Amino acid sequence: MSGLFCYCRQGFEPELAAELSERAALAGLPAYAKASRNDGYVALIGDDGAALDRALPWRELIFARQKLRLIAELRDIDPKDRITPIMAALAGGRYGELWSEHPDSDAAKPLAGLARSFANALRPALRKQGLLSEQDDPDLPRLHVVFVQGNHVFLARSDARDSAPWPLGIPRLKLLPDAPSRSALKLEEALLVLLDNDERQRLLKPGMTAADLGAAPGGWTWVLTRQHLRVAAVDNGPLRQHVLDTGLVEHLRADGFHWKPAQPLDWMVCDMVEQPRRVAERMATWLREGWCRHAIFNLKLPMKKRWDETRLCLDLFAEQTQRPLKVRAKQLYHDREEITVFATPR
Ligand SMILES: C[S@@+](CC[C@H](N)C(=O)[O-])C[C@H]1O[C@@H](n2cnc3c(N)ncnc32)[C@H](O)[C@@H]1O
Repeated sequence: MSGLFCYCRQGFEPELAAELSERAALAGLPAYAKASRNDGYVALIGDDGAALDRALPWRELIFARQKLRLIAELRDIDPKDRITPIMAALAGGRYGELWSEHPDSDAAKPLAGLARSFANALRPALRKQGLLSEQDDPDLPRLHVVFVQGNHVFLARSDARDSAPWPLGIPRLKLLPDAPSRSALKLEEALLVLLDNDERQRLLKPGMTAADLGAAPGGWTWVLTRQHLRVAAVDNGPLRQHVLDTGLVEHLRADGFHWKPAQPLDWMVCDMVEQPRRVAERMATWLREGWCRHAIFNLKLPMKKRWDETRLCLDLFAEQTQRPLKVRAKQLYHDREEITVFATPR
């Protein structure tokens, strides 16, 4: 079996399947997506798994939390001996790490205990055969054993440079007690997933300036103040007092679709709940007019045709900014019916 295996938010399998199929077709690679509603994963099957893997980088995939390269699908395996068929299907290879996982779906979450204990059994067997390094080695591919049922397993591999560095593709972030809202986790995750290490250091420096459109009760603003940015927080709603007490925040009771800064800012972030096309157009205006250099914003997705709407909004944004920008978008773990977009000068 060759192709890709990607995790997504439960319920977003049709969007991920449409995205993977379309991107494979654009790359000229014949492939078809296998997906079932609420499975939390999609398999993209094609003759040339290596070419699909190269053509669809993890960072560019919007609905994929994780991207793996398929090795095999094993059905009806005997729960008394899962190791023998797995070793046979691997047929050699050498791996730097073993991750035994399950999709983040209602059906597969109860398999977490099995996945954990199975890793403890499989690891020594792999090492005995020389298939797994004694110490974790990031230069070698990672081996993923993905339980979708107790007797149904996908085997896959990933490259640390082109995959999420978290099991299940889920970064475990802790909501700090003084975070004004759970939304704070969205911006924290966006900074972690959409920016690389170098960008985080270069683009977020103490003393930089930002606007937060749709800021109340202040979660995103608070995340920015923790990086020592000065923030114009735009919202008619109230901000939590301790956010204002940082001395870094000016609260502006204004309409986020009309307000613009007197001086160009380093950053603009936006979490206003509105029609995604309207948000995409306003965000494009900010970048085109040079009101900010970098932006992170959310696009709330409609109930239907979510992949079409995503593509349409991102195309509209790219067209209307009229600038060479690097644009990355993801449905983050902390995003629900939405995606998060990062734009920065190329
Ligand atoms: C999801 S909440 C933002 C949560 C915030 N990011 C946080 O972390 O606490 C959306 C906010 O957008 C604001 N909003 C919606 N439309 C707006 C507009 N046209 N102008 C300014 N704020 C708006 C709402 O008042 C609401 O507070």
